[in-house]
Amino acid sequence: MTTLVTSSPETTELRFPTGFRWGTATAAYQIEGAATEDGRTPSIWDTFSHTPGKVHHGDTGDIAADHYHRMPEDVALMRRLGVTDYRFSIAWPRVQPTGRGPAVQKGLDFYRRLCDELREAGIRPVATLYHWDLPQELEDTGGWPRRETAARFAEYAALTAAGLGDRVATWTTLNEPWCAAFLGYGNGVHAPGRTNDADALRAAHHLNLAHGWAVQALRTTLPNAAEVSLTLNLHALRPLTSAAGDLDAVRRIDAVANRIFLDPVFHGRLPDDLVRDTAGITDWSFVQDGDLAVTSAPIDSLGINYYSPTVVAAGASESPSPWAGAQSHVRFLPAPGPRTAMDWPVDAEGLYELLTRLRDELPGLPLLVTENGAAYDDYADPSGNVRDPERISYLHSHLTAVHRAIEAGVDVRGYFLWSLLDNFEWAYGYNKRFGIVHVDFATQRRTPKDSATWYGRTIARNAVDKP
Ligand code: FCB
Repeated sequence: MTTLVTSSPETTELRFPTGFRWGTATAAYQIEGAATEDGRTPSIWDTFSHTPGKVHHGDTGDIAADHYHRMPEDVALMRRLGVTDYRFSIAWPRVQPTGRGPAVQKGLDFYRRLCDELREAGIRPVATLYHWDLPQELEDTGGWPRRETAARFAEYAALTAAGLGDRVATWTTLNEPWCAAFLGYGNGVHAPGRTNDADALRAAHHLNLAHGWAVQALRTTLPNAAEVSLTLNLHALRPLTSAAGDLDAVRRIDAVANRIFLDPVFHGRLPDDLVRDTAGITDWSFVQDGDLAVTSAPIDSLGINYYSPTVVAAGASESPSPWAGAQSHVRFLPAPGPRTAMDWPVDAEGLYELLTRLRDELPGLPLLVTENGAAYDDYADPSGNVRDPERISYLHSHLTAVHRAIEAGVDVRGYFLWSLLDNFEWAYGYNKRFGIVHVDFATQRRTPKDSATWYGRTIARNAVDKP
């Protein structure tokens, strides 16, 4: 790629490559609301959020940020920011209610209108097919631990590509399959809330398979120029010390959090050590001949979601855990430094470490930072302003890390800030605000925060200040 990255000692700014993609990201269940409109059926997140005790304060996505009805206003906000790209997700139960049968035109029409509105604003649509809202019917017949769900997903991908292929240029199959498998079926803090390590591992494999079959379906349906991608929340892992036990803790978590996806998707294999470490949980006989050829269907780019690093050491932690047995060998420690409202450490170095690792492990593969951002306890002050200097500082340090990675030869093509709007933050409900636009959920009033102004200026300059 032609890079024009400048950071010579004389300049005071870090300039990004020409054509760098600047975006914001959201997900359907977190912003759309309109949960029962136009034929949409419940997803596992509707069921889960309506189950007492699962989500903070009993919050649900029934109304969320009401984006389904306010979409033009939200696109206008992005036009003012000057973003080049917008990453959103398509609600499976809106397009193919119950996860079977033909596409519902009204469901597709919402996303067609969104894409038209975006194109009119000069913003490229980047669509994710699965951001965790599995139709409840497919969970009732077994969910992701069942192989059939992967086949259903490929069919949904084909239907959606047929309906929107003329409008969407970049397609992401899955968002963070680690969370879907291990938080959904391992420790149960996410929908559908099951707690079974064997099911979590089966789910991970079937998500990989769903990805591979969907890539095949997308390639058949979409124009050749379409970009097909996958988004992973790879874990930036650090050993507490360089002692052998701590290094082995890193290896174990790397296997069950990172290589469980990277190896099948990019190398057509399962990590040997993962199979060995999990032998007491499963014999992996659900992996059938030919599956790993499917999971490794070539893709055009990889999306990385990054928020904070993970420090591990030899030891043991509590169950139920999302680590499929590794928790009896691994202790998790707080990384030092300041924290966001999620209690996540602010540490941009982890993003640099991940990006350079991928440069070395997957040479030639374009990368996108598909999520990065921070929650803080924002509020509108009496004059109506939302001051969020910590978020600006978080974004600045992470963009500086991205720039440094590009200078180190990593092919990062774009950055998508999580998130455009305050929204339904899964098990935390509306208690955690990640938006650069504040949402008053009582009135649905949108107020750009100071970070929105800062991000708009960053995009216009295609640069950030040198730290
Ligand atoms: C990621 C999710 C996204 C959002 C951020 C904070 O794991 O993909 O939906 O909740 O975390």
